[in-house]
Amino acid sequence: MSLWAGSHRPGFLDRAAQEAMVAELRAVIRVAPLVRPVTGWGRPMSVRMTSAGRLGWVIERGRYRYSAVHPETGKPWPPIPDSVLAVWRQVSGWPEPPDCCLINWYGEGARMGLHRDADEGEAGFAAPVVSVSLGDPARFRMGGPARGGPTESVILHSGDVVVMGGPARLAYHGIDRVMFGEGDLLPGGGRLNLTLRVVRPD
Ligand code: SIN
Ligand code: FE2
Repeated sequence: MSLWAGSHRPGFLDRAAQEAMVAELRAVIRVAPLVRPVTGWGRPMSVRMTSAGRLGWVIERGRYRYSAVHPETGKPWPPIPDSVLAVWRQVSGWPEPPDCCLINWYGEGARMGLHRDADEGEAGFAAPVVSVSLGDPARFRMGGPARGGPTESVILHSGDVVVMGGPARLAYHGIDRVMFGEGDLLPGGGRLNLTLRVVRPD
């Protein structure tokens, strides 16, 4: 069976919980605006990002790292909303809260190439990454620990949670495409994805 069997929790959040979470995330984004990171190849990503929590994931001059401050405002990231921490407590099986809630915004045509979440340090890899999807559905692709291996895909809908732990923690994954405008949670379309990470730089 698949690497991540059992780790996809469709419909984990009901509509009211999704709406409440979006409202909390809008407040985060007002303080910590979405930015379009530029990869090491000098190409702007199609996804726009910000973070909440003690640390945020950034690309700085082509280097991927965690930072205590927003790259444009220079201010600390806002706290992770309570509703998001509640999901972590329910599904992560991890005794400590996450250090980072990376917020990815997918507008029309945005996607995310296959990658690993591999900047959290060896001790950080022991904890799962928990992902929450809100808004338009998207095709999520997951492979194994090596680039170029077999992959599988699943559609993630608004309210779905995915737990990437154990052998899936360092697996390649990405978003092939978002079915822009097919959901009805976010007026005007688009998709928000949260990934919660424990970060313990080596
Ligand atoms: C990510 O890998 O950072 C995002 C995954 C997703 O958007 O579902
Ligand atoms: Fe990722």
